Amino acid sequence: MKSLVISLGGSVLVPNLSDHRIVEYAAALRQVSEKLRVFVVVGGGGEARRYIEAARTLGVDEGTCDEIGILVTRLNATLLIAALGDSAYPDVAEDQATALEYAVSGRIVVMGGVTPAQTTDAVAAVLAERTGAAILVNLTSVDGIYSADPKTDASATRYTHLTPDRLAEIVGGSRLDAGSNTVMDAIAVKIIQRSGIPLVVLDGRKPKNLPDAVISGLFSGTIVCSENNTRLLPL
Ligand code: UTP
Repeated sequence: MKSLVISLGGSVLVPNLSDHRIVEYAAALRQVSEKLRVFVVVGGGGEARRYIEAARTLGVDEGTCDEIGILVTRLNATLLIAALGDSAYPDVAEDQATALEYAVSGRIVVMGGVTPAQTTDAVAAVLAERTGAAILVNLTSVDGIYSADPKTDASATRYTHLTPDRLAEIVGGSRLDAGSNTVMDAIAVKIIQRSGIPLVVLDGRKPKNLPDAVISGLFSGTIVCSENNTRLLPL
């Protein structure tokens, strides 16, 4: 069975606690787990940003803000595990080695953040290396990687394919404050550059986009890999 690692943005899974997509994602993940060994790395979303903002007003340093963000990612991971029931391993893996151990159960493995000064995209990229994943999927709040931020720049165009080196140029200059929000963090991109694991960036606001892409090969988003190979999907 091929392995699939998913970086599931907290901003699409839990924009806030009263308006989330946890039930829809549990269904989508169960569907893909029938064909693939699935690992999910959950982000912190709006609640993480709100906690981090509250901590900053108290004068807390960035590293501690990151630790608070990590706790929220693990809370979101716990909610997803609850919704997945028997389909998921019952504990949140706190590092990649533990995720590998939990995968022996044959169930979906869920984790959150690991260590300060990165985001869950970097956690997912390392997990993709360690599991020998066929592909890393990033489900985020835009439908791919753009030449500029499409939320603020109407002239931004979406890339259908990028090489890892080109992606590194695009994200290279971004800051990494606690709770910052870029399409992919620069550490994750460095890991993708060295490992050569293909990355697909999809619009996570529609949970159905996940099974449509990985099982049916139907998607629109950005593929990041060294060859101009649009036939990575379906897996
Ligand atoms: P993420 O930035 O991964 O959350 O973690 P997110 O919600 O998925 O981001 P979107 O959805 O892509 O917008 C939230 C915060 O937790 C800390 C960072 O401060 C990060 O901004 N964090 C997370 C870490 O410090 N280390 C980790 O390994 C993960």
